[in-house]
Amino acid sequence: MRVDILTLFPDMFSSPLRESILGKAVERGLIQIRTINIRDFTSDKHKVVDDTPYGGGQGMVMKVEPVARAIESVKSQNSDVWTVYLTPQGGPFNQDLARRLSTHPHLALLCGRYEGIDDRVRDLFVDEEISIGDYVLTGGELAAMVVIDAASRFIPGVLGSDRSAEEDSFFNSLLEYPQYTRPFEFRGCCVPEVLLSGNHSAISSWRRKEALRRTWMRRPDLLVKANLSEEDKKLLEEIRGSKDD
Ligand code: 6GU
Repeated sequence: MRVDILTLFPDMFSSPLRESILGKAVERGLIQIRTINIRDFTSDKHKVVDDTPYGGGQGMVMKVEPVARAIESVKSQNSDVWTVYLTPQGGPFNQDLARRLSTHPHLALLCGRYEGIDDRVRDLFVDEEISIGDYVLTGGELAAMVVIDAASRFIPGVLGSDRSAEEDSFFNSLLEYPQYTRPFEFRGCCVPEVLLSGNHSAISSWRRKEALRRTWMRRPDLLVKANLSEEDKKLLEEIRGSKDD
């Protein structure tokens, strides 16, 4: 997957994309990430990228020409690029959308600043608008990083050969079960005995029940979408019926 990030703040991306799993994926050539500074596409002496809004009002609006030229420079190299504008007005980002974006060979992520971008950019160049949640960030850059991180996990090889993003929490609409590692006891808190039992079917069943319990307590909205088996429904009844946990 190739990702071109169009931004006024390319330096924001240097460290987050070089660390850990994403950094390794970039090193191994599984994803290619490039930043494009929108300011490089201005044509005036002062490299002005914003202006006051027509009709008046607070703040500044990003000008259409530099953004248009920046997007066109990406499209001139590959007409098949899928252009995404990160904006609080976009559709909600989730695991399904991350998976779908990961299937595009080439993404252009457009990061807005100020009060937004001249709306003509939307009509003329943008294929899709995405928001990462119902709050306002100072710009689309952090949202672009979130999108890149979540989508990259679906690229074969990024998580290593023995792991797949399809096994994660949101793939089956349940939160993860609790995990523990050594020591067995820490400040009086012990690891649940079943995990030391060596009884794989008892461990699986315990984990499924704890995943259901967590989801029921923290995110009951997810249970509505979840694909629950008869066994799951029985476990949920037990969870609902028990008062002491
Ligand atoms: Cl994509 N951009 C901005 N500026 N704020 C946001 C967002 C995006 N998603 C949630 N809040």
